[in-house]
Amino acid sequence: MEDKKLSTLVVYYSLEGNTKMMAETISKEIGGDTLRLETKKAISPHGVMKFIRGGGQVIFKKEPELVKYDINPEDYDVLFIGTPTWAGNFAPALRTFFSKTNLKDKKIALFNCNGGQRGKTFENMAKSLEGNEILGGIEFDVPLRNDREGNIKQAKIWSKEIISKIK
Ligand SMILES: Cc1cc2nc3c(=O)[nH]c(=O)nc-3n(C[C@H](O)[C@H](O)[C@H](O)COP(=O)(O)O)c2cc1C
Repeated sequence: MEDKKLSTLVVYYSLEGNTKMMAETISKEIGGDTLRLETKKAISPHGVMKFIRGGGQVIFKKEPELVKYDINPEDYDVLFIGTPTWAGNFAPALRTFFSKTNLKDKKIALFNCNGGQRGKTFENMAKSLEGNEILGGIEFDVPLRNDREGNIKQAKIWSKEIISKIK
């Protein structure tokens, strides 16, 4: 196989830092660019209001406006897409991302942080990403709180494996 360098982007949303830590781990391990999605109207990571506001946005399939970014995700061959689970689904910022980005024929790996109940997070992401090849998915159980080092190690091994599959 000819040795063409594939361009890679790690794109993610994170409210409380768990998905951010895993995204940074993956992007450091495999190289490439990183895009953190942020909503214009930010939800506070403190207190219980985040569950009401965040959960409501998921249930009503809201597409919160994102802070503008310069990167064009459509320019990349391989994307690692990460999200926390909210109400058994991916976070609303990703819904906005999926509807404003035309991803086709990309190779995509999914990563997710949750508190033990992933629900349909991966299934729903895969549905939103039809027309692309899903290379695999990995989940982490609130890694900032539980076995941080073990989760980091796992993320490194997994992301390397994903990349080696396509090279
Ligand atoms: C609005 C909201 C809804 C959540 N819903 C779920 C859920 O359905 N299942 C679950 O296991 N964890 C749920 N969680 C917990 C998060 O998925 C978990 O803490 C995750 O590690 C947070 O990632 P982050 O730090 O990148 O934001 C929810 C958290 C929030 C803020």
